[in-house]
Amino acid sequence: FVLVLLVVIGGCASWIYVDAAVSTVGRTDFHNELAVPPLAESRIEPDGTRLFELDMRTGSREFRPGQATETWGFNGDYLGPTLRARRGEQVRVHVRNGLPEASTVHWHGMHLPAAMDGGPHQMVEAGATWTPQWTVDQPAATLWYHPHPHGATEDHVRRGLAGMFLLDDDLTETLPLPRNYGVDDLPVIVQDVTFRGARFEDTHRIFREVGFLGEQTMVNGTLAPYREVGDELIRLRLLNASTARVYTFGFDDARAFSLVGTDGGLLDRPATLHELPLSPGERAEIVVRMRPGERTVLRSNKLDAGLGFWTQRFNGGDDTFDLLELRAAATLRPSPALPATLAPASTPDGRDSVTERRFELDLSGINGQPMAMDRIDFAVTRGSTETWIVHNRDGMPHNFHIHDVQFRVLAVGDEAPPAHLTGPKDTVFLAPDETVRLAVRFDGPADPDTPYMYHCHLLWHEDLGMMGQFVVVEPGGAAGRPQHRHGH
Ligand code: C2O
Ligand code: CU
Repeated sequence: FVLVLLVVIGGCASWIYVDAAVSTVGRTDFHNELAVPPLAESRIEPDGTRLFELDMRTGSREFRPGQATETWGFNGDYLGPTLRARRGEQVRVHVRNGLPEASTVHWHGMHLPAAMDGGPHQMVEAGATWTPQWTVDQPAATLWYHPHPHGATEDHVRRGLAGMFLLDDDLTETLPLPRNYGVDDLPVIVQDVTFRGARFEDTHRIFREVGFLGEQTMVNGTLAPYREVGDELIRLRLLNASTARVYTFGFDDARAFSLVGTDGGLLDRPATLHELPLSPGERAEIVVRMRPGERTVLRSNKLDAGLGFWTQRFNGGDDTFDLLELRAAATLRPSPALPATLAPASTPDGRDSVTERRFELDLSGINGQPMAMDRIDFAVTRGSTETWIVHNRDGMPHNFHIHDVQFRVLAVGDEAPPAHLTGPKDTVFLAPDETVRLAVRFDGPADPDTPYMYHCHLLWHEDLGMMGQFVVVEPGGAAGRPQHRHGH
């Protein structure tokens, strides 16, 4: 009887959601100028280190006139400044936690020692300061930072704690790509929100097993944003900073655009696309050509990701959004043509892979086990390349993120990866039943006691325990015991 009842209730709810697919397409009055996060100030210490200050704090912001919403942010009320550093530089960050509870700051996509990673073992208590430092040693890329406290990541990110971390190198300083920050090179941090009165809704709707799905979107914390642009070519650094929602980026007139970079840096050459899917945590750099005086809208189309009929509806795959209107000036500064080649491949091709590992993803965890802070799942050898085979074995969307590395997607199912998965990646989407094959190289310093994470970046799933831990050891070494500064 209970089963029958559940089926009946489930059926009714399903129909409610069929009617309730969310769409803002064609209905958006773009009346707010897009905010661009400021570049973070930094200073050079006597030893040459670039020092940043990040303050995690509570605040409030009027996203809508007259309605002050309580928020969290870095160095401000909502989101955070854009950190920027150059390959080869040593960086140090004073992270001060002015929140009423413990949190962490994780440098998503950064190659760095595990103790600097800002994962759940580097908790910063309320009122405390944490000072990680490392040397930037990876290609130019669009990375980001956000909290990572075990069990509360969705909540902390959703309240507004996220920002970009851009890396530059010799190549990106000479390549003719748009790179005037805030002018022809724009950060596009996409989040979905629902307001209940002045407040952010923070509860999950029933049957939304992916976690929180908002009814409208913001870019850089701006609702219904527009941006005036004055150059022929505009580079958009897209970051899906939503906690659960997958977007399919495209333009309202279905124009082609050039994909130049993925999570961990530039592609070998630009790829022409009309649509680009990004799941939570993923980034892409695209370049779009503007014509004088025109307006075009960046939007998210329906997700076509092999989701079943009901999954599509329960998990928001039917939803569509107008994200950002670009308004071109009547005359535009000419931009140089995009280069035919961009960056040499920086990820392993897998031919020297020494180990193959399998990861089965479902809501119960990874390989059937939920995350445990004191369990290191395996050790990898410093300097080695491995093949990781990741399979989504349940009926809902997941993705897979690995700390410390940028990997190469060797295959999706039996196919070669599509263009948007050919560059350096640290996060990859998995539709139900999908399998991806990854080549991953571990160059980090060995630290048998401090784990890096791998997990689903749908943050509710991560909080539920779809996460595991690995350590990097010297050849012949073994995993030690997790050391964390503060228990959780
Ligand atoms: Cu962006 Cu482990 O996270
Ligand atoms: Cu998941």
